[in-house]
Amino acid sequence: MKIFAFAGSNSSTSINRQLVRFVLKSFPNEEVNLIDLNDYLMPLFSVDLEKQGFPQEAHQFLSNIEEADIVICSLAENNRSYTAAFKNIFDWTSRINVKVFQNKPMFLMSTSPGGFGGGNVMAEASKFFPQFGADIKETFSLPKFYENFDLENGIINPELLSDLNGKIENFKNQI
Ligand SMILES: Cc1cc2nc3c(=O)[nH]c(=O)nc-3n(C[C@H](O)[C@H](O)[C@H](O)COP(=O)(O)O)c2cc1C
Repeated sequence: MKIFAFAGSNSSTSINRQLVRFVLKSFPNEEVNLIDLNDYLMPLFSVDLEKQGFPQEAHQFLSNIEEADIVICSLAENNRSYTAAFKNIFDWTSRINVKVFQNKPMFLMSTSPGGFGGGNVMAEASKFFPQFGADIKETFSLPKFYENFDLENGIINPELLSDLNGKIENFKNQI
């Protein structure tokens, strides 16, 4: 099974990327393509620019999804919504194929330092990603990242870890 994974952040110290990496440990035998949004930097989307053609990075992002069996991602929240880095990729790719996520089963996550764990971006993505072809099987939001996550051990809060592990098992049972 091929996994396409990403964090919806272009931060070199992304906490969402750390969460994705932690969850990927539960898929030790699978082929993983964990990308960095910084490798998909494109000009700011505009309807004028798209008349000149689509950046190769947008096609590549879609190809990554096409080649994968499942998608595992964690979205960073900026001003209650997607980061600009992710939204730009989302906008470009949706103009090539509105079903960006190509009906792949998705494990959708978010985390933030605050107590809502990126709950706003999670609500937005949970509601609207299905319109863009995401087959969301499970979701998980990790609140208070810096209290509940440790670089060496991952999630250190037993209740949150148990919740996540249950969701990973549910996800695996559905794919
Ligand atoms: C411009 C900006 C806006 C932010 N807005 C929110 C927000 O609305 N909600 C939230 O929970 N955190 C917000 N944060 C804090 C982010 O959750 C925090 O920077 C987190 O580390 C982002 O995830 P990342 O490390 O994966 O990039 C914001 C941070 C920035 C820089």
